[in-house]
Order: sequence, then C-alpha cells, then structure tokens
Amino acid sequence: MILDQFPRHPLTFGPSPVHHLRRLSDHLAARGGGAQVWAKREDVNSGLAFGGNKVRKLEYIVPDVLASGADTLVSIGGFQSNHTRQVAAVAAHLGLKCRLVQEKWVPWDDPTNTQVGNILLSRMMGADSRLDPHGFDIGIRDSWKDAIREVEEAGGTPYAIPAGASEHRLGGLGFANWAFEVAEQEKALGVTFDTIVVCTVTGSTHAGMIAGFAALEDLTGVRRRVLGIDASATIEKTRDQVGRIARHTAELIELGRDLRDDEVTVLEGWAGELYGLPVDSTMEAMALGAQLEAMITDPVYEGKSLAGLIDLVESREIPADSHVLYAHLGGQPAINAYHSLWPAQG
Ligand SMILES: Cc1ncc(COP(=O)(O)O)c(C=O)c1O
Repeated sequence: MILDQFPRHPLTFGPSPVHHLRRLSDHLAARGGGAQVWAKREDVNSGLAFGGNKVRKLEYIVPDVLASGADTLVSIGGFQSNHTRQVAAVAAHLGLKCRLVQEKWVPWDDPTNTQVGNILLSRMMGADSRLDPHGFDIGIRDSWKDAIREVEEAGGTPYAIPAGASEHRLGGLGFANWAFEVAEQEKALGVTFDTIVVCTVTGSTHAGMIAGFAALEDLTGVRRRVLGIDASATIEKTRDQVGRIARHTAELIELGRDLRDDEVTVLEGWAGELYGLPVDSTMEAMALGAQLEAMITDPVYEGKSLAGLIDLVESREIPADSHVLYAHLGGQPAINAYHSLWPAQG
C-alpha cells in the first residue's frame, strides 16, 4: 500500500479501540432511530498527554521534523487548543523546544480559560505558550509567522506546524491510514461501518478519512458515507479546506481519480453561532454520552459532532439498519475551563 511508503514515527499505542455504544443505540432507537452506534476512541490513543487526533497527524510529520534538523516546534491554536497541547507533548517526547501562539478564539471569559486544561498541560510540558488577543480563523495567521521569525531571530531552528496540522503537506495522512485501520478492525469485529461521523474544523482529520476511505472503496468496492459535522461555524471556509486537503491527500496516496462530490460532505446545523460555544444540542449530546456510556465529550468539538450523530440517527437520515462509527477525536481537557456549564447542585 502506498501509505506504507511514507515514514511514520510511532506516537500512539497502536490501533485505537473500537466499541459498541449499546445504551446510546438503545436510547436513540426508543426515540425513533435504530442504527447501531459504535465509537473509535482517539481520546485514548496515546500515552502522550491524553492523546487525541493530532497525535495521528503528527506521526507522519515527525519524520520531516527530524530530517529538517529543527530544534523548536512552532504552532498555533486557541487558548484551550487540543492541538497545541499535543504539539507540546510531541516536542517534550522528542526533546525539542516548543513555542505556542494561543489566540483568543472563543469569547469565553471565564478566568480559568487561560489557566487550566490544555494550556496548563502545555505549560507543564515546558512549552513557551504565549497568549494573543486575535480571534478565531482556521487559516494561516500572522501571529504564527511572527512566532516563527522570533524563534529564528533568537538563533533557533523552527519547524512550523499550522493550526490543527491541517495546512501541512502531510497533514491528511494520519487519518487516511485510520481508514485502513478501521477496515482491519472490522474484520476482527465482524461488522462493517457504512457511515462514519467526524467533527471537522481545520479539516485534515475529515479530509484524510475521505482520501483513505476512497482508496479503500476502490480496493474493496465497499462504499461508505464519511459525514463531517462542522464545529467551526465558518462552514464555507471549512468546506473549502476539507475539499482541498482531501484532494491533495488523495493525490499523495495515488488514488488515481478525482474525488466525487458526494465523497466530500460537511454538514452544518450543530455548530451554533460561534466556534467554541456550546448550544442546547451540544449540552444534550454531552449529557447523553456521559450518562449513558460514561463517554466524555467536550463543548467545542466532540459534543457538537455527537449532537449531529444523534439527530441523524433519530431522524433516520442514518437508516435504522446502519452501523455508524463515531470518531471520538479527544478534547476532554478543555472541559475544565467550561466548569460553569455544570454548576454545583444543592
Ligand atoms: C477534539 C477535537 N475534535 C475535532 C477537531 C477537529 O479536527 P480538524 O481540525 O482536523 O478538523 C479537533 C481539532 O481541531 C479537536 O481537537
């Protein structure tokens, strides 16, 4: 397989676990659904600082980092970025320095937002994490370019990793490989997932899956739907970015054909008005995940994609005879900054 020709630096425990969410499936069936819901757990995929989806992307980027001779990883995200925490973890693991730009992506003014959760972990791991007042944008940022220049001016050798590791040549490979991992796990479990549900913001997680499942379809004839649930609330930008990265990754893994339009599906309706702020459907999904399955999701990403899955199953847009795989991409450390959503009772 062409993917095997790309160097991969192992950062995960191996294949992430896949399991049946029986109580959630039963609950949704009682509300009109019927599909069987399973989860593949990127939130428990690595020993590096709670893992998550970026660790998989970084497995394919680290060989390029090491070959470049860089001594400092430079990256960017929001105050509670899971991505920057995972970059800090990988830097610590490799013995590199880490410079992080943490922008004010979310108008969430709880003072703990810059003190606990992801940002606390990044500080603990020795990253030079600096706050920046700029708001949310999934594109390439001047603040990040400035940080890269500052590292150079100080005599360091930076390696630049953009937000979510998405606008990086190799950013889609981790989740292209994920598709093949799913296919192996299906054989062992005796189940075929016809629908995958994944949260999408900077795009390369979903895009990588699209390219990977397209390659798998061409090999096996099994056609599936890979449904991205937008959590950016800037749907056009995310849609463009997913399509662009999916096509680039497809080319990289030598798919040998154009992606069909129906292979690039980013659905809106669960992001709310703004990135990072939960809405009622997010809160309900987080409560169902936690109370039926003890599966913890966050208000920024996974609570929103779980809300999408719940509605699509209940409305039978995902049919009753489906086996649907929810890609749990991590993100739990951020819940600490959102403690006020669950006020103390009594
Ligand atoms: C927990 C979690 N879920 C989903 C996403 C979205 O992934 P991507 O940015 O690759 O679209 C991210 C990162 O942005 C994340 O940290």
